[in-house]
Amino acid sequence: MISIEEIKKQIPNCLAGTNFANLGKRYEGKVRDNYTTVDGKRIIVITDRLSAFDRVICLIPFKGQVLNQMAKFWFEQTKDIIENHVIEYPDANVIIGRECKPLPVEMVVRGYITGVTSTSAWYNYEKGVRNFCGNVLPEGLKKNQKLPVPIITPSTKAEHGGHDESVSRDQIIERGLLTAERYDTLASACLKLYQRGVEIAAKQGIIFVDTKYEFGISPEGKIVLIDEIHTPDSSRFWFADEYEKRFAAGEEQKKIDKEYLREWLAERGFRGEGEIPAIPEDIKAETARRYIEAYELITGQKFDAQVEPVLPRVEKVLLNI
Ligand SMILES: Nc1ncnc2c1ncn2[C@@H]1O[C@H](COP(=O)(O)OP(=O)(O)OP(=O)(O)O)[C@@H](O)[C@H]1O
Ligand SMILES: [Mg+2]
Repeated sequence: MISIEEIKKQIPNCLAGTNFANLGKRYEGKVRDNYTTVDGKRIIVITDRLSAFDRVICLIPFKGQVLNQMAKFWFEQTKDIIENHVIEYPDANVIIGRECKPLPVEMVVRGYITGVTSTSAWYNYEKGVRNFCGNVLPEGLKKNQKLPVPIITPSTKAEHGGHDESVSRDQIIERGLLTAERYDTLASACLKLYQRGVEIAAKQGIIFVDTKYEFGISPEGKIVLIDEIHTPDSSRFWFADEYEKRFAAGEEQKKIDKEYLREWLAERGFRGEGEIPAIPEDIKAETARRYIEAYELITGQKFDAQVEPVLPRVEKVLLNI
């Protein structure tokens, strides 16, 4: 794997963002810059921005490439289950998909009961909730326990900057967000996608804990998987070899995600409010190393790290699109 020294050299080369005037209508998410072209394509540039506590915290070298290539791995591993929006990957940090009409719910699938935020299954269970988004949960579950069967806990898609709301199948249908038939099609696809993720991750010694999917309707009227799939920004992964021991001892699980930086921030009293603490280079490089390690572990492939400025490379590729 690339050394910490090499990773540090990439810090000044990080991709902060893009602002292409001629690509199409621009929409900036916390991590990705999206462009909708006039000919029905969605160009998504995955930047090196890291978000935590609903804020953009800093730039992490190679993070955009890790996320994009991990999504690529999973799109390819799941395309027999459901069609996805992908047209091509013209650069390590770019994916071009077909522009679809997004469906207004995010489909969250959980195999374990965990989490700390107010929308998480464990937070609600601990407060006494036994029917979570229409799923009846048994008594006596402990934090991080495997659920008897994976559950779907959909959430509505909040407008830019708003907070998502957890809902049940019945609420989705009552509110007219989806028809019952369409919900059931999505639910069945989600469970198959999650199951595929569980199987592939297990072979690599990883527990695929939970994730979320977004779907859209293609111009021909088909349901298509859009956005991204099974990356550390949308999913939780734990190391399988430590699971039982830690679970029995009531300890936290060893995680593959942005937890490292979140904990570093939390130790300094930052939980999303006020000024973001300055992040030292060592912490950025270690965060990057963990992302790269996760990529190599999950995909079983070596990460191709080029120490070079990302923006000019992306610019060159997209100028010829
Ligand atoms: N092929 C596609 N067609 C239409 N919309 C898409 C497609 N792929 C992704 N999207 C949508 O584009 C939006 C991309 O936003 P993005 O994820 O960059 O930011 P966000 O979801 O608003 O905020 P966050 O940064 O918190 O994720 C999402 O709503 C996603 O559902
Ligand atoms: Mg998003």
